[in-house]
Amino acid sequence: MRPYLVAGNWKMNTDGKSGVSLATALVAGWGGGRPGVEMAVCPPFPYLTAISQAVKGSAITVGAQNCWHEAPGAFTGEIATEMLADLGCKYVILGHSERRHILGETDELISKKVKKGLASGLKVILCVGELLAEREANQTEAVLDQQMSGSLAGIASDAYANIVIAYEPVWAIGTGKTASPAQAEAAHQYLRDWVAKRCNSQIAEKLQILYGGSVKPDNAAELLGQANVDGALVGGASLKGDQFLPIALAAANCYQG
Ligand code: PGA
Repeated sequence: MRPYLVAGNWKMNTDGKSGVSLATALVAGWGGGRPGVEMAVCPPFPYLTAISQAVKGSAITVGAQNCWHEAPGAFTGEIATEMLADLGCKYVILGHSERRHILGETDELISKKVKKGLASGLKVILCVGELLAEREANQTEAVLDQQMSGSLAGIASDAYANIVIAYEPVWAIGTGKTASPAQAEAAHQYLRDWVAKRCNSQIAEKLQILYGGSVKPDNAAELLGQANVDGALVGGASLKGDQFLPIALAAANCYQG
């Protein structure tokens, strides 16, 4: 069975004090972890150092929410993947719908960031997902195909070992509306088949595909129980220890069951 990854995307939330106390609560609750489940937190850039320090020695890993695709140099306001690796980040989230739709990131830019993240030894959590209008127009698979092809252009098969896909239907993010377990499973199956065709079935079988979009303690077990759902990328519910921990524990139950 594939291991689960339950990652908290803190987005532009917390401050130094509340971030550290959240991380400290997670360490207390998760400690050495559970078999078959990795917990990761992705705080805002300014707090990466403090949060890395707070989770040190625990089973919790750390990721960043974005990066720039050039080597360190004259890029005012940007963050290099070398810096993220230096801070002990294991993951970088790329292609999140808020960056695609609010900041205007294109698949072309995202693919450069994916390559650069991988080259710096980071694991990439690549987000893909359709808008509500696209789902209603039966365009979900076409959109996923376009985002996967564009964002993973030129990525060699052996690099997929360091890539995690997060399926995040945009209409489910922060809205309280979750994809039904069947809708999530169908999209995840499509994505796994996509990778099987692009690479091969062994690589596709190993690929972790996370679901994201209003994951909460009360819907986590059913979503994580789907055959092709290998974890969750959690926004709102990752900001409270008493919501994020039960989601990770639901993954641990699914792994054992
Ligand atoms: P949400 O966010 O859990 O608040 O819907 C998920 C995400 O954007 O990664």
